[in-house]
Amino acid sequence: RLAVERAAVWLMASRGDGVARLVSSPWRADPYPTYARLREGTGVYRSKLRITSVATHALCSKVLRDRTFGVRSTDGAEPPPFAASGLPGEVEVIPSMLEVDAPDHTRLRALARPAFSPAKITGYRAGIEEATARLLERALAKDRFDLMADFAAPLPITVISALLGIPDVDSAAFVRYGRVLGASLDGTKSVRHARALRTANRELRALFTRLIAERTADPGPDVISALATSTGLTALELATTCELLLIAGFETTTNLIGNAVWTFARNPDQWDRLRADPALVGAAVDEVLRYEPPVQMTARIPHRDTEVAGTPVAANSMVIVLLGSAGRDPAAFERPDEFDIGRPKGADHLAFSSGAHYCLGAPLARLEGEIALGALAGALPAITAVAEPKWRKTTVIRGLSELWLSPGTGS
Ligand code: HEM
Repeated sequence: RLAVERAAVWLMASRGDGVARLVSSPWRADPYPTYARLREGTGVYRSKLRITSVATHALCSKVLRDRTFGVRSTDGAEPPPFAASGLPGEVEVIPSMLEVDAPDHTRLRALARPAFSPAKITGYRAGIEEATARLLERALAKDRFDLMADFAAPLPITVISALLGIPDVDSAAFVRYGRVLGASLDGTKSVRHARALRTANRELRALFTRLIAERTADPGPDVISALATSTGLTALELATTCELLLIAGFETTTNLIGNAVWTFARNPDQWDRLRADPALVGAAVDEVLRYEPPVQMTARIPHRDTEVAGTPVAANSMVIVLLGSAGRDPAAFERPDEFDIGRPKGADHLAFSSGAHYCLGAPLARLEGEIALGALAGALPAITAVAEPKWRKTTVIRGLSELWLSPGTGS
């Protein structure tokens, strides 16, 4: 969808409008003052290139839920799917459920939904706790450890691989796929990135083609077996759904854990509070999702001429929905720029989006976040960063590439 184009267009739009700071590194370190400016007035911002963005909670919510808006244009202009490199020799890449509208979206989502039923989610708990304990023990045995490489990345990879039934996971390769595909949400940035994308697509497709053939012949209790033995999916849709679940399942959760730890590092009183009252862990995960969401924006396309807060929006034009801005909107949350894990229940954050494409894996992401954060809170009396964290050079995805911590004296 949008994807390759969307962030690229966003970049052009912001440059054209003289707000290049949106994509510069100071913006990456702190995008929120820029969002505050975009929320001024009606909360609708129209770039010189006539790209519309919506920044308030109410408008983001409205656009995501309004059936006038879809994720594809209806004028026949097919934007390439975000996972496409555009280079020759690419495996065939089709849009995933994230990138299609009803009726295809409804069909694809319904087939994947059983993997995230409440009973299934409960069943994943023991495996997540075991992986968390193992990774944490190994990380804490070091003099200093990189939270991202030693914990935040391998944990969700282990979880989603177990769920899909991927044996002998090559974590390093998966981290590479996640980074390359996650970065492609901003568009294909360079020839080097395009090549890395083509390689990631080929390797992932080879992996899933093999696993799908095995599970079709000899199904097990895993999600690939369930999808492979269901009817109603073409072979290419099946592979694409598996690839989406893998990538959506860890890249974002990795950044939830990293963003959480970094936010607590800057708010030690909140860390003390969580350590004193572990029952706050669920609220803490949601507060991180509101305050530092791993997915900062998405996009929608109106299927007919319409308007948003009085601003006309033409059919098949692009509307950027600033999820990260919605979480900081003072009209929806009191003291929005304060990180407060005990805040009274206000509006729902939009970190998992809303409407038809609401994150299918949200219950799993919450569970992983709670177990990871709970374990860290039990083990680290304080979060002691031993170097400045490094932010990833991405716009749609917000997360750290490195966060070096000292284990301190465990308690
Ligand atoms: C969709 C965020 C974890 C699977 C989405 C969307 C967002 C999102 C914002 C919708 C984008 C849009 O409306 O255009 C997140 C965040 C996560 C997370 C912040 C972690 C903190 C997961 C996990 C899985 C997953 C763990 C699965 C294992 C999906 C799928 C969709 C989706 C399949 C597509 C749903 C659809 O198009 O109907 N996610 N996600 N996500 N997510 Fe997540």
